[in-house]
Amino acid sequence: MDRLIIQGQKALCGNVDISGCKNAAVAILPASLLANDVVVLENIPDIADIKNQVRIMREMDVDVEYLDRHTLKVDSRHMKNDCANSESVRKMRASYYFLGVLLGRFKKARVAFPGGCDFGVRPIDLHIKGFEALGATVTTKAVIEMQADELRGTNIFLDFASVGATINIMLAAVMAEGTTVIENAAKEPHVVDTASFLNSMGADVKGAGTDTIRIRGVKKLHGSTYAIIPDQIETGTYMISAAVTGGDVTVHNVIPRHMDSISAKLREIGVRVIEDDDSIRVIGKGCRLRPCKVKTLPYPGFPTDMQPQIMVLLATIPGTSMINESVWDSRFKYVDQLRKLGANIDVESHLAIIEGVEKLVGTDVEATDLRAGAAMVLAGLAASGVTTVSNVNYIDRGYENMVEKLQGIGARIRRDSGREDPQLSVITGNAV
Ligand code: EPU
Repeated sequence: MDRLIIQGQKALCGNVDISGCKNAAVAILPASLLANDVVVLENIPDIADIKNQVRIMREMDVDVEYLDRHTLKVDSRHMKNDCANSESVRKMRASYYFLGVLLGRFKKARVAFPGGCDFGVRPIDLHIKGFEALGATVTTKAVIEMQADELRGTNIFLDFASVGATINIMLAAVMAEGTTVIENAAKEPHVVDTASFLNSMGADVKGAGTDTIRIRGVKKLHGSTYAIIPDQIETGTYMISAAVTGGDVTVHNVIPRHMDSISAKLREIGVRVIEDDDSIRVIGKGCRLRPCKVKTLPYPGFPTDMQPQIMVLLATIPGTSMINESVWDSRFKYVDQLRKLGANIDVESHLAIIEGVEKLVGTDVEATDLRAGAAMVLAGLAASGVTTVSNVNYIDRGYENMVEKLQGIGARIRRDSGREDPQLSVITGNAV
């Protein structure tokens, strides 16, 4: 399997264009099936999770065509309501959106159990409670089966502001009878983007981005052309690449407001962050960085999907930092890999205590999930010597062209199919 070979300690400088938001695209692509019409989606990221969803949709007889690398035309007029036998559904978490979509459109669904990154238990009980509240009967045995004579709007209070449950309930409720109110709704930018997309198809969704979302059911939806927002987490990852290498990087095609919690934390650490209309310049060069405390929270708090990346930065800043992971039960598994590079991190349940070290030292590490994979790359960029990162398939799930984008800002990184000795190729000058 492919791995990345990185020769670190090079300050990254230059410009990076940010791709479309993975977690918006993986909701909006299935949501397009609610229309029984033709939908064109722009700024779709070219990542493995999207290719997987396209595969699932084609298995359901949806006509999906790439108009270019980032634009998809979806014609769902002849689709079927079953993806229960799809291996592709089991490969990713976001395939749970087919539940809400099929229920909303056909009042009936059969879907295999979704998979995804391993952060401990990843239940979908809040999604199912929401579908039941709308009137569906749900059985979960080998596959998830749902059926409703009629879907009726109701009030749904979420015990936790779950991104997936909020979006899934919106999908099931847009064509229900009457009004659905979701309280304690998730407020992430991708929730808002999905609501905006649904409205572009004729839905009546109000309040997305606040705690309370009101969905007035409409009879049917129509086709639309819609562009996905930029990816908050990809943006944050490149912002940290500048900070951790003492570089100077400008990320383009971003929405600075979505980055507020990350920009604020980087400033607290001592990094210079300069915002413009749709770009952010991050300067680590010449800055004296300080340790800090981070707590992951639902939006607008600091995102859990940036937790491994900021861990790498804090691991390289002398002094004691702390990270409290409050969203997922088990999202510190990757810390063992960072320890191999010399990081000094103790983990107690949801809390990581980081004693920053002067430098990390390159070695062989694994990507244990998508964001942990990005963190390993950042660690390799900061470390002395050569770092190899295996299990690159995790990174491919959510980062478009990561190697090329990093090379564009001066990183010595390349992808290798696993046959060469990286030490040897560094010595001979072919490595990166
Ligand atoms: N939860 C429940 N029951 C549910 C749903 C969630 O208890 O029915 C709990 C989870 O166990 C977790 C918390 O609620 O402790 C948050 O889960 P949420 O439902 O918000 O997460 P998700 O929708 O499954 C999305 C992103 C994740 C991101 C989380 C939190 C997608 C496809 N995935 O997952 O993104 O970590 O929200 O922001 O949107 C990633 O991109 O790397 C990634 C993992």
